[in-house]
Amino acid sequence: MQIFLTGATGYIGSSVLETLLRAGHEVTALIRDPEKAELISRRGVHPVIGDLGKPSSYAAAAEACDAIVHTARAGSSRAQKIDRLAVDTVLVAATNRAASGKPAAVVYTSGVWVLGDTAVPVAEDAALAPTPLVAWRPEHERIVLEAGRAGAPRTVVVRPGIVYGGTRGIIADLLKDAANGLVRVIGDGKNHWPCVYSRDLADLYLRVATNPDASGVFHANDEADECVGDIVDSIARHARMRPDVRHVPLPEARAKMGPYADALALDQRVRSPRARALGWSPSLHSVAGNVARLLEEFRTRREAA
Ligand SMILES: NC(=O)c1ccc[n+]([C@@H]2O[C@H](COP(=O)([O-])OP(=O)(O)OC[C@H]3O[C@@H](n4cnc5c(N)ncnc54)[C@H](OP(=O)(O)O)[C@@H]3O)[C@@H](O)[C@H]2O)c1
Repeated sequence: MQIFLTGATGYIGSSVLETLLRAGHEVTALIRDPEKAELISRRGVHPVIGDLGKPSSYAAAAEACDAIVHTARAGSSRAQKIDRLAVDTVLVAATNRAASGKPAAVVYTSGVWVLGDTAVPVAEDAALAPTPLVAWRPEHERIVLEAGRAGAPRTVVVRPGIVYGGTRGIIADLLKDAANGLVRVIGDGKNHWPCVYSRDLADLYLRVATNPDASGVFHANDEADECVGDIVDSIARHARMRPDVRHVPLPEARAKMGPYADALALDQRVRSPRARALGWSPSLHSVAGNVARLLEEFRTRREAA
């Protein structure tokens, strides 16, 4: 298949790119930076130099592909506005393509933070109660799902948990903090984080992008129901020198980090039955149980960079 990918240089997008290429798909990637475009073209990817905020730079390239996978995220102050522009652009591209009788799909990246705190484990049909950081996301999900209501184009929303693996993301930051001797935990650490291994997440993107029957919302998490305290404790035990762990009250964290603190303090247990119904089965089942492996992967990737 020909797949148009945004965010190919990002944490999730780079993992999705690797998986799509390994599966033999032709990828066209929207890239902002010409140097990154040059690097990515050496891997057989067709780069389109442009910006999410400038639809004319990528609308035609997106319309030429069988599926559009949107994983890019603009910087926080403009995230909502640019994401809305990108959503509108890729939906028009896919709708035009579908109108000419060609296969067309849009895969949109949201996240589990739209669910808010969950008292019991929740699946894809749960009511949304987004934490303030992502208050705008449900509307973008709704627009994407509504555009697919008639079946053409096919539309998908993926809600990843907190991604682990490699050198980027929240869990890799904890590994770095532990190596530097101090890990900060917001609150008492008894809250649960739904997490997902980056390669497992990429496998779900491959499935939803290429399976003509996949549409609607898909959660992506390993269902380990891990407490932040247990994740941090395991990371601390694997560090060369045991780091200090400092518990920061939520109001203090919020004063420094803004609404990101509330997102990290969420207590969430999430299930992914719709993803599993597609045959998706995560290869890793927890962060705490895989810290040695994650550290190895972190070091190998950092040396290779
Ligand atoms: N990471 C997680 O744990 C996680 C969990 C759940 C949901 N999510 C969601 O998944 C999405 C991707 O997250 P991520 O962690 O992969 O982000 P990331 O590592 O920050 O990657 C962002 C990507 O977007 C690209 N980008 C930024 N602004 C752009 C613009 N104006 N035009 C074109 N491309 C642009 C970046 O390109 P450059 O290389 O040019 O900067 C990069 O490729 C986000 O919507 C995030 O909320 C992430």
